[in-house]
Order: sequence, then C-alpha cells, then structure tokens
Amino acid sequence: MAIPVDRRTVLPVRKRATEVSVVTARRSSPSRGRRRPPPRTVPVAGIVGLGHMGLVTGLAFSAHGLNVVGYDISPELGKQIARGSAPFAEEGLAKLLRQELSRGRFRVVPSLDALAAEAECLFLCVPTPSQPDGRINLGPLEQSARAVATALRSVTSPRVVVVKSTVVPGTTEGMVAPLVRSVAGKSPEEIGIASNPEFLSEGTVVRDALRPARVVIGASDARSLAWLRRAYRDFGAPVHALSPSGAELVKYLSNSFLALKVSFANEAARLADRLGVHIDRVMEAVGSDPRIGGSFLRAGPGFGGSCFDKDVRALAVRSSDLGLGLKLPRAALDVNDDQLEYVIDRIDTSLGGLKGARLALLGLAFKAGTEDVRESRALPIAERLLERGATVRAHDPAAAKSFARAWSERTPKGAAGLTIVPSIEHAIEGADAAILQADWPQYLRWPARWSRKMRRPLLIDLRRAVPVEVARRAGLSLVGLGDGTDVKNVADVPRAAP
Ligand SMILES: NC(=O)c1ccc[n+]([C@@H]2O[C@H](COP(=O)([O-])OP(=O)(O)OC[C@H]3O[C@@H](n4cnc5c(N)ncnc54)[C@H](O)[C@@H]3O)[C@@H](O)[C@H]2O)c1
Repeated sequence: MAIPVDRRTVLPVRKRATEVSVVTARRSSPSRGRRRPPPRTVPVAGIVGLGHMGLVTGLAFSAHGLNVVGYDISPELGKQIARGSAPFAEEGLAKLLRQELSRGRFRVVPSLDALAAEAECLFLCVPTPSQPDGRINLGPLEQSARAVATALRSVTSPRVVVVKSTVVPGTTEGMVAPLVRSVAGKSPEEIGIASNPEFLSEGTVVRDALRPARVVIGASDARSLAWLRRAYRDFGAPVHALSPSGAELVKYLSNSFLALKVSFANEAARLADRLGVHIDRVMEAVGSDPRIGGSFLRAGPGFGGSCFDKDVRALAVRSSDLGLGLKLPRAALDVNDDQLEYVIDRIDTSLGGLKGARLALLGLAFKAGTEDVRESRALPIAERLLERGATVRAHDPAAAKSFARAWSERTPKGAAGLTIVPSIEHAIEGADAAILQADWPQYLRWPARWSRKMRRPLLIDLRRAVPVEVARRAGLSLVGLGDGTDVKNVADVPRAAP
C-alpha cells in the first residue's frame, strides 16, 4: 500500500529536552526588507500504549509531520517496535514503522518520565476491555492516567492529556481529569484534558489512521483544542469539536450504528435464505440509496473484533444505568447472538448432521487482514461444532498463534477435537466440508486439487466470498450464508470427479 512520503526537506534542530523544532528549508530569496518567517515548531506527541490503536496513531502523527515518542508497559513490545519489527499483521504497518523510525520522528522511550519530559500532549491508548456485566474495565486507564500524572509532577511547562481509548461518556471529565490533576498536583491551566476517540478499523488501520474520515475532539479548554487542531492539521479530515462527553458519545453511537447495520443485514440474510434469494444483490440495491449507504450491509457470521461487541454492550449498560434502557443496542447484540445459532444450524443441515463430521475451519481472525481474534466468531463456531460431535482442523494465514492462545484460554481443560494446522491443504484433507469464516484472499482462488483432497467437496462460505465460477471450475459445491441455497438438498453432494 502506498504510504504518503513527506517530501518537505526538514532540518531537525534540538533545543531543549522539552522542545523540538523543525525548520522547513526554503530556497534563499532576496529579503527586500521582509523578515524571514519564524521557524515552525513541531509539536511533540506522546503515545502511552503501543497496541493496535496506539502504535498506528503514533505513526500517523509522525507521518503527518509531528515528532512522536511512544511508551508501552511491555518492555518487550517497546523493544520490538524500536527494532522496526511490526507486532501486528496489518497491511502497510511494517513499512510505515520502518519509514518513521528511519526519519527519526517516531521513537520508543523506556519510561513515562522520558515521555512526559518531551511530549506536550500525551495520548492514553490503553485497553478498556469488557467486563462480564458489559461495563468497561477502567483499571488499565486509571493505572496509566495515575502513572502519567506522577511523571508530570516534575514537568514545569503546560501539558495536555488526551483519552484516546474508548470510554463511556463522562469518563474523561469525571474520572481522568480530576485524577491526573490531583496526582500531578497541577491546575487546569497547567494540564489540559481532552477526549479524542479513534475510529480506525483493524484490517485497514494504516489507511484509516493516515486518512481518517473525520476527527472528533472533545476538549475541556481552549489550549487543548488548539493543540489537537494543530496536530491534525495535515490529516485532511473535517474536525468536529465537542465537549469531552459529546466526543465519547460519538464513538459509542458510531459503533452501535455500524453494529446495527451489520445485524440488520444478518437478519435479512436469514430471510433471503428462506425466500431462495441471494442477499448480496438485494443489499447492493438497498444500500445504493444514499440515505441508507452500502457499507456494513454485508451479511456474515456476525460481528466480532475488539470493539463492536464491547462498545455496544457498554452503551446498553450505560443507558440502563441512566434509567433509559435503550432497545437498539440490545437488539444489535441479540441478533448477533442469534446469527451464531443460525450459522451452526446451516452447517449442520448442509451436512445432514454434525456427529462424526470432519470439518476444515478456514479463517480464524475476526476478519481477514488482521491477526486479531478478539471476539472472533471462529471461537464459538469451533466450540459449537465440537459440541455437536464434529472434529475441526483450523487454519489461518496470520492468526493461528493468537487463535491458539485464545482457544486455550477459552477451553482451559482442553477441548479435544480441534487441531490448528499450518496449511490449507492440511486443513481440508479428507474433510466433509470446509467452512470459510474469514475471507483471506488465499482461500478465494480455490484450485480443483483442493476439492479432490476433500472427502466431500463442499464449502460453506459464511462470507459468500469464493466466486461461483471459481467453485464451478474446482468441482466444489457452495453453500453461502444468505445465498438462498436450500440446504436440505445439499447433504448428498457427490464427490468431485478426480
Ligand atoms: N483495536 C482497534 O481497532 C481500536 C479502534 C478504535 C479504538 N480502540 C480502542 O483503543 C483502546 C486500545 O485498544 P487496542 O486494540 O490498541 O488494545 P491493545 O491491547 O492492542 O493495546 C493496548 C496496549 O496498551 C499497553 N498498556 C496497557 N496498560 C498500559 C499502561 N499502564 N501504560 C502503558 N501501556 C499500557 C499494552 O501493553 C498494549 O500494548 C481501547 O479502548 C479500544 O477500544 C481500538
């Protein structure tokens, strides 16, 4: 993927530890009495938490001309990033990391003291995971805010602390601001506070971070707002300035609306199957109405990933805590739960029963393009298939290791019947069916020899991603979720001709 390269010639001039300037080189011109413009001071951003969101956020600031220092509580992760080795499988990430490290604008520092000394604005990018009751766990945020505030005690110039982690409305002003100022012993004039939620999607994080559709800033004071506006000046995105709670709410409503669209498409797919209609043509037509919009209307096995489930759950609980009990976030979650049952039933019926079936599960990440398996549908799908008596060989080009870790956490006593294998061929050898859970491009070319390896050449394509023509040439029977196939007739799929 093309990474924009800043072609300005820049001469870094280090002043004090707290102030780094960059002078844009200009061709000398006759002064004619005009004064030279003052050197441009380049803001220094500090990133606390170099995970999926924090790392790419820091790299995007750096690519857009800021100086960036990053810190992670995991020294191993910090060292890996400092070496130029991308910790996540994301298109363009390794290249962007190497580019920004070699320019010297992005650096990893070993401590929060070092980060607080340099960074004028400190972005908290730490996890806010879901708890069993749906509320988010604010422990990591509280811990990082406290540690940042401790590091800021000895800093004499003003700073801005920004909550970039996803937090329920009220957290930045109600929890982070008083905590940071009291631990640091500073006034609101000395430490500004803001919320600046992030909207990137895994699988396309580099593109999303470099060219966001919009920037949302919830600043509690004018200086913080001005700093953030300046930081995002070259991103080319519209800026929405709100209150901190307003900005936090934008994030939750955005993810809830997207989750609703996915759940709407998933219910529609069930209807399409019952009616013998292909859902994709239908949703293309529905989404071509600009009032509706075509994105997030592709039916599939249900939403997953680190954000949707967690954020929609948190909004639902928060609305109940406020005495409102909003129905739509709950509905999006309920439909998502139902979709899992629908997937399992469709697989079961397609095979005429799961007991003793040998299945290949292809694509373990929550979607193609990432190694992230948080809330991946592959986990409960595998679990249900085993419960119904099938054995599963699971494969993913990038997520095998993270899936193995998540699987052993999920099934601490060990769940017999699932093997993670290193190749597609190994997964499908002798299988009664393959199930496509994440549509990595590797799976979509499906050569005829793959079909011949299977006991029954049947692909249950939960994304409708393998083209019908490819399947036909490969002698592969296709059942798509939402493709209108009457699965009662599929159980007797003949073996492909050798
Ligand atoms: N992953 C996404 O696509 C995405 C998109 C938008 C928003 N978000 C939000 O961003 C936040 C972070 O998510 P993520 O996916 O990057 O999580 P992650 O688990 O991938 O990364 C978090 C990082 O923070 C580090 N960390 C934890 N506590 C720390 C501390 N006290 N000091 C310094 N570092 C610390 C961890 O070691 C880890 O590397 C969450 O609130 C999430 O909802 C994530």
